Amino acid sequence: MIQIQKIDLTLYRQFSFSLISLIEKNLDLNLIGEYLNEIKEIGAHIFHENINLAKQDLQDTKKAISAIDIPTDPNFSVNENFVFGIATFVAIFSNITNPICYEKNMPFRVHKATHSNVKDMDAMGIKLLNLEDKLGFHNDGVVQPDKVEIPKHIALFNSFIGYKDAGYFHWVPSRLWENQLNDKDLNYLKSNLAVVKLTPTVYEDSNGGYKKEGPSHVRAPLVWESETQENRFFLNGDVSDENNERQLVELFSSLRESINNSPECISIAQQERRAIFLNNTAGFHARDIFADPISDIDLSRIFIRSVDSNCELCPQSSPIEF
Ligand SMILES: [Fe+2]
Repeated sequence: MIQIQKIDLTLYRQFSFSLISLIEKNLDLNLIGEYLNEIKEIGAHIFHENINLAKQDLQDTKKAISAIDIPTDPNFSVNENFVFGIATFVAIFSNITNPICYEKNMPFRVHKATHSNVKDMDAMGIKLLNLEDKLGFHNDGVVQPDKVEIPKHIALFNSFIGYKDAGYFHWVPSRLWENQLNDKDLNYLKSNLAVVKLTPTVYEDSNGGYKKEGPSHVRAPLVWESETQENRFFLNGDVSDENNERQLVELFSSLRESINNSPECISIAQQERRAIFLNNTAGFHARDIFADPISDIDLSRIFIRSVDSNCELCPQSSPIEF
């Protein structure tokens, strides 16, 4: 088990007031990209203890995960707590690593789901936002036009959860699990490329619609050795009979099966304003489905996701479209 850190309310308040006096107007979510350097600098000063502990946990490959609860200030409005909560999350992650910045220098993407758009997402085959589907163990990849990369870190933040039962987030550090694998299987996986059908990545565009990003399939090894001679894994989406040798399909499902049954699994309750940071090259994550929606609210989740710009290459990988 890991220790879940808590940001002290006094520090959260101090951080928020520092931003208010710097910006001299209300912090809007869209301004976070513009003030990213300041948010990082102020955060480094105010949250240095939390950041250092998070870094230690992430570097320790027997853990490789860190969770931090961000408080709400009862003197702030709902919107202020929403924005300062995300700013705190950004401040911590940008001091752990350099996140990928998207439009307007925003270091994260917002995934907003409502019960009424679940049907649209079903039609697109989207699992990421469809909260009533279970996401099995995987690690996150970034698909570039010519290759697949594994971001060194991923940061997740549930800003709002419209369910009474949010279940758990699960993490298996690969260092504690991989000794179950035998050399023969590992060598086979290292020397044979798989065709992987990816779990679609989606985000909300500026018109409030949903966009699917990237190709449907990639060709990639499921296991390889890093520059530091550690085993690396790409376990994402689905490896099916259609495009792969029987042996590869069987090994892929046995890897998933053994991660699923791993006694080394660290489970953390999914809660609002709990930030989770992952050393994404050093483990696999999954989450429980959300159940028992809060009635009368169409909004079901606001989820923030940041991705490290530092990546490791998945060797010999390439995207493919069928
Ligand atoms: Fe993921």
